[in-house]
Amino acid sequence: MGTIKSIGILTSGGDAPGMNAAIRAVTRSAIYNGLKVYGIYRGYKGLVTDEIQEFKSQNVSNIIQMGGTILKTARCKEFTTPEGRAQAYENMKKHEIDALVIIGGDGSLTGARIFAQEFDVPCIGLPGTIDNDLYGTDTTIGYDTAMNTAVEAIDKLRDTTQSHDRCSVVEVMGRNAGYIALNVAIASGAMAVLLPEKEFDMQRDILDKIAETQKTGKRHFIIIVAEGVGHAQEIANEIQARTGIDSRATILGHVQRGGSPTLRDRVNASAMGYQAVCLLEQGKYNRIVGMKGEKLVDYPVDEALEMTKSLDPVLVDVCNTISI
Ligand code: F6P
Repeated sequence: MGTIKSIGILTSGGDAPGMNAAIRAVTRSAIYNGLKVYGIYRGYKGLVTDEIQEFKSQNVSNIIQMGGTILKTARCKEFTTPEGRAQAYENMKKHEIDALVIIGGDGSLTGARIFAQEFDVPCIGLPGTIDNDLYGTDTTIGYDTAMNTAVEAIDKLRDTTQSHDRCSVVEVMGRNAGYIALNVAIASGAMAVLLPEKEFDMQRDILDKIAETQKTGKRHFIIIVAEGVGHAQEIANEIQARTGIDSRATILGHVQRGGSPTLRDRVNASAMGYQAVCLLEQGKYNRIVGMKGEKLVDYPVDEALEMTKSLDPVLVDVCNTISI
């Protein structure tokens, strides 16, 4: 592969607040370095169907504060087939795009890895997902905003839960990971959290805790359930049946994916976008960018996708210790 003269950017999988900040940073860093930039619409789908547009600095102005993704996103079936990927490669050649920056979760970055291997296309992945379930980065783009959105909603829910002496069972997103659930449980002062990473026992983890909490005089209860555990309504029904406490289920759902990104997501996404272009300029290909604390890091895509990260056990203890 010769020197890179033009870069294509796409966002893929579930959208996440901060994706626009990343698109802006990649575009502006590339232009700063004298490279051409192409926005590819609807993730890999736009690469296959040729929804590709050259971006100038102005195309990414006034977007850093916006949630969602101006490039749109999709989960693309065609790109999972060799024919679809061949078509995508043809379109890259047609526009003379030398390299790709892919902003998305593990499914999207797995697509990048396969494409890079098959067609020798230099790719850089940026972790864009609210779930925070990617190895090699402390935080993914969108994670901070999603947690803040959930906490804001639960603060509101607490007002009505407390006024009615009720129990609220709140389901938060995260796919099979409990990062959002655990942090949100601590930050919202929940009485209990159910995580996909930990086996759950109704008696021990909820009913006994409610009984303990009642001894302190408390009459309202907030329980956070990660979507990987699920069944918020059934859990609420069972609590009501076994304790007599009026219980409600609230599924926060896609509201957690929207909204203006927090400062942390904007800064992380901007730094990661900048770093993607630096890596391509340095001839370092097929890597995933991350943040460790406030430092930018990068890993080979193979390593990042094969490793898994896990919840901090200390945070689990923090949550259990101060919840009653
Ligand atoms: O990966 C982000 C995420 O929001 C998960 O938390 C959730 O499980 C999933 O996407 C929902 O996907 P969809 O928007 O396709 O329903």
